[in-house]
Amino acid sequence: MSTTNVAFVSAQVLANEDLGADCRLLRLAVEPELDTSAVRPGQFVMVRGPWAHHPMLPRPFSVLDTADGQLEILVKVVGRGTTLIAGLHRGASVTVLGPLGRPFPPPTPGVRDLLAGGGAGIPPLYLHALRAPAGSAVELLYGGRSAADLVLVDRFAAARLSWHCCTEDGSAGSKGRVTDLLEAQLDFPGDQRVLACGPTPMLKAVASLCEARGVACWISLETEMACGIGICRGCSVAHPEGGWRCTCTDGPVFEAGEVVL
Ligand SMILES: Cc1cc2nc3c(=O)[nH]c(=O)nc-3n(C[C@H](O)[C@H](O)[C@H](O)COP(=O)(O)OP(=O)(O)OC[C@H]3O[C@@H](n4cnc5c(N)ncnc54)[C@H](O)[C@@H]3O)c2cc1C
Ligand code: FES
Repeated sequence: MSTTNVAFVSAQVLANEDLGADCRLLRLAVEPELDTSAVRPGQFVMVRGPWAHHPMLPRPFSVLDTADGQLEILVKVVGRGTTLIAGLHRGASVTVLGPLGRPFPPPTPGVRDLLAGGGAGIPPLYLHALRAPAGSAVELLYGGRSAADLVLVDRFAAARLSWHCCTEDGSAGSKGRVTDLLEAQLDFPGDQRVLACGPTPMLKAVASLCEARGVACWISLETEMACGIGICRGCSVAHPEGGWRCTCTDGPVFEAGEVVL
């Protein structure tokens, strides 16, 4: 994916909504500097707030949605950078670099897309489902530890997406992990493929399920990043035949088998 026309732009926080489970939804005004119509599901942006020092580096976030010159991201708080970004108030200035990276392959007529994710991995899958042309067969499989972790279910319902959920404690949907949900859904007679995003152990389990069933599988990695544009090599992942791939420019979406998990 070319990054030639990508530069940091100034943006403003328009809204910061508490979704629970340490997650915030930030809406950013980014146009005209960043063309939101160019964003493809699976792509991400690097975001940095107005603080002077630590952390110096921006943090990567998948694009959750775009509309009216605005861009939405879901921020799950895990460390200092996400704490600061999640704490930005309406009107705060941020810098945004993007859209970056290789997106998910678009829906293919006659092929069902099963989208498996949870936590901070759900935003790019949501955007893929949302942007799928009318008539596409797309099923979202959303997993969490408990009902409170399923922070986007209201949006799924409002957008009339087709989705199933599961929780490890059984407090919403079926009891179990998203891989259990996926395994049940893979018993399907037609052509299908799996797109997944989430923690590496989950991606590993999804990829091996798909390999065993002979189903094509695409995974989106959330490797830690420094530059986001192929310079620092901090996001390198091993290729099975040797060498390395950069998650930021060769990914974050890879076909399972293109990288060693
Ligand atoms: C392409 C891409 C898309 C992403 N999309 C989203 C998104 O939509 N929403 C969201 O909330 N997060 C997303 N992430 C993850 C997010 O970028 C990290 O959580 C964030 O950079 C952590 O910064 P921090 O300063 O808060 O944590 P740090 O202080 O840097 O780290 C805190 C702890 O979290 C761990 N950590 C840091 N980064 C990651 C990571 N990428 N994966 C797993 N553990 C990590 C560290 O090892 C450490 O233990 C995405 C990452 C990538 C690469
Ligand atoms: S984050 Fe710097 S090369 Fe990928």
